[in-house]
Amino acid sequence: MLVLLLSGGQAIAVGPADTAKQAASEYQRARYSAIHFKPAISGASNADCLACHAEVLKPTLRERSPAGVKASDSKAWYQQMTTYQGGQDTFHRRHLETKFARTTMSLQCTTCHEGHDPRDEHPLSSATSQREGGFRLRKSVVPETSCLKCHGQMNTAVMGLPGPWRTSREMFQNDCLTCHAAIRTNRHQVNYLKADAIEAAGKGNGDVCYGCHGGRAWYRTTYPYPRHAWPGMADETPDWAKGRPTESEARFLTGDRAKGQSK
Ligand code: HEC
Ligand code: HEC
Ligand code: HEC
Ligand code: HEC
Ligand code: HEC
Repeated sequence: MLVLLLSGGQAIAVGPADTAKQAASEYQRARYSAIHFKPAISGASNADCLACHAEVLKPTLRERSPAGVKASDSKAWYQQMTTYQGGQDTFHRRHLETKFARTTMSLQCTTCHEGHDPRDEHPLSSATSQREGGFRLRKSVVPETSCLKCHGQMNTAVMGLPGPWRTSREMFQNDCLTCHAAIRTNRHQVNYLKADAIEAAGKGNGDVCYGCHGGRAWYRTTYPYPRHAWPGMADETPDWAKGRPTESEARFLTGDRAKGQSK
């Protein structure tokens, strides 16, 4: 670049460097690698992505803010759950690397990142950003589904609870299973959750369940969960549940259910 400036923009022969690898085009090639787009991204493993993006899982937190506040002294409200362990950590590590994350979840990069669009994706910047379900930014994460599922409000109205969980939980010994041992028992059969481990951890400790169902709610809305049939379910569908899917999203199905879906 400096050479071009000095030469008034004219390319000059630079000898052997011509045959050396071009850093810029390698970067562009990686950036537009087919793996970032559909369909290739759907088959990508975490290892495939981490080959280039290893930094997203590296612990990179400052111990102190530039103003001197210690990270360990500034715990937010959502970091007071009894399941919260260890020091402050990054967003990606909290979902993929912490003890709680590893015990209850098996999130993949592609659970959240569904593939780039070569066009700009911020609002109103291009035709594609205006389509239904647009507004994903370049990370191509859809918050309505990717985040709301585990960070929405607890739908206490459909549960018939007398009030929000923080005021009614005493009544149920802080245990969701007082009801959920028999209600909506066909749950968490998706490839990004560890269904059995969740049940084991949630036994007698509603904080485990509440953490994904209201305890860390960034949203004021609730997520309309699919309503899987369960043994003992009434034949009649309540009004609030009419129109709800009865199966998890196809791309998250596991085992025989996944096979049944593939064409
Ligand atoms: C061959 C290397 C390579 C592989 C493999 C790769 N990426 Fe990338 N990725 C890049 C480069 C280079 C960029 C551009 C970074 C920039 O603009 O700063 C990028 C950009 C991104 C961005 C946008 C970042 C931003 O700030 O806008 C996301 C998200 C992303 N990659 C996710 C993934 C995921 C998920 C996978 C696996 C399916 C993956 N990448 C595989 C090299 C790679
Ligand atoms: C829980 C959903 C989720 C998972 C799982 C996830 N990401 Fe992200 N990723 C996001 C969100 C949301 C952002 C935007 C964060 C921001 O802008 O601060 C992001 C940002 C990124 C970026 C842009 C750089 C950055 O740090 O902001 C890259 C690259 C990336 N993710 C790669 C990956 C890879 C590789 C994996 C798998 C190892 C992965 N992500 C797993 C949601 C996720
Ligand atoms: C499958 C469930 C799940 C999904 C999907 C999910 N999260 Fe989380 N999230 C969690 C759990 C569990 C924790 C607590 C992890 C812990 O305590 O180590 C958490 C913690 C967080 C935290 C707090 C991190 C901290 O330092 O304490 C933020 C912020 C967050 N999630 C944002 C998001 C966003 C944004 C998305 C969507 C891109 C998202 N989450 C998707 C389950 C999920
Ligand atoms: C008083 C009994 C009771 C308690 C306690 C209870 N639930 Fe529920 N829950 C229900 C009932 C009833 C439904 C609706 C069943 C149906 O689909 O007809 C429900 C539905 C749900 C749903 C699905 C909501 C939807 O919109 O589809 C989730 C998620 C859930 N409960 C999580 C929890 C969690 C987490 C706790 C503990 C923090 C908890 N519940 C405590 C009775 C209860
Ligand atoms: C790591 C996050 C996480 C934890 C912990 C968790 N859930 Fe869930 N739960 C989810 C997600 C995500 C779904 C939606 C899955 C899908 O799309 O099928 C869900 C769905 C449900 C449903 C709807 C069932 C149906 O019909 O499909 C109920 C009820 C429920 N959870 C109750 C609980 C209870 C009770 C516990 C504790 C024993 C618990 N959850 C712990 C994330 C979590």
